[in-house]
Amino acid sequence: MAPSRVDSPEPIPSPAPGKLQSIQTQQPHYGDFRDDFFRDGYAVIKGVMSKERASEYQSEALTWLESFGLGFDRNDKSTWKKENLPQSWKGGMYLHFSAAHEKYVWDVRCEPGVIAPFAKLWGTDELVVSFDTVNITLPQSIVGTYDSQPWPHCDQAPERKGLVCVQGIVNLSSAGPDDGGLIVMKGSAPLFDQFFEENPVTGPTPWRTAKHKDFHPFSDKDLDWYRERGCELIKVCAEPGDLILWDSRQMHWAQFGTSDVVRTIVYATYTPAAWMSEEDREKKKELFEGYETTTHWPHTNLYTHGKAMVKVDGEEVVDPLERDEPLTKPVRSERLLQLAGVKPY
Ligand SMILES: [Fe+2]
Repeated sequence: MAPSRVDSPEPIPSPAPGKLQSIQTQQPHYGDFRDDFFRDGYAVIKGVMSKERASEYQSEALTWLESFGLGFDRNDKSTWKKENLPQSWKGGMYLHFSAAHEKYVWDVRCEPGVIAPFAKLWGTDELVVSFDTVNITLPQSIVGTYDSQPWPHCDQAPERKGLVCVQGIVNLSSAGPDDGGLIVMKGSAPLFDQFFEENPVTGPTPWRTAKHKDFHPFSDKDLDWYRERGCELIKVCAEPGDLILWDSRQMHWAQFGTSDVVRTIVYATYTPAAWMSEEDREKKKELFEGYETTTHWPHTNLYTHGKAMVKVDGEEVVDPLERDEPLTKPVRSERLLQLAGVKPY
């Protein structure tokens, strides 16, 4: 489905549970990751699963990548070539092929250690999760360079106020200083409202498609605005089994690594199920049954990335590698169906 343009952004009502509002205004001391999160706009939670478990999940991700039969073999680096892989975005984000619904991806989303920090942040474990995808990026040192221009952005529309979305990366590989990983403008999330008051969005906004309603790209001068207010760019380092959380109002992008690590992560975002409207619940069920991959928003702004397309004789056709269902379907446990928004709490 082609996204329709959103020409004039309308004010977006944000769910604002009283509990959360008081968290934001009182800034209490928690003595845990939430202090970092509310101050810096991001936090790293160590060891939400064991390194061994993370390595098993990474292995399943590589098995999935090999399953397309294009010649990629994890054990033979001479096969590590871009042409031996299915199409992806930005080097390794798999937006198609039912990637978001593979069993191992759902297993990661259902890991209690992954869910717990979100439950703590939102004050409820009745959550829904995004049908976000995986990122499996082979190292530039072997496959050659990617388009590595930074694309600083936030994933929340300027008119959507307050903390309403917290994104997550479950690290299945190392994200050290030389590995691929997340860059954040530390401390930018708390300045979100001030930034857009002082720098209102004017003129054409071609990026505001329905699918990218909650998105805003930043310019170099915007980076300076944040720096002048004490923010700094940070490469977020993490180990396999660690969870990175960041506020969707935070400026961020992904940086390719120079090491030989295969960056392997699962994106997972959870928000309170109570925030989802009945209309969105129906849409979410449909997307789940169709094994569709969406943006990182779990409870609203639900749009599929659609089918992978290729050009044949100048015409766009569905990629022959596209799949109607995952290679290994997830087990439909009660918890999974609740997180998917299919079964009410
Ligand atoms: Fe983003």
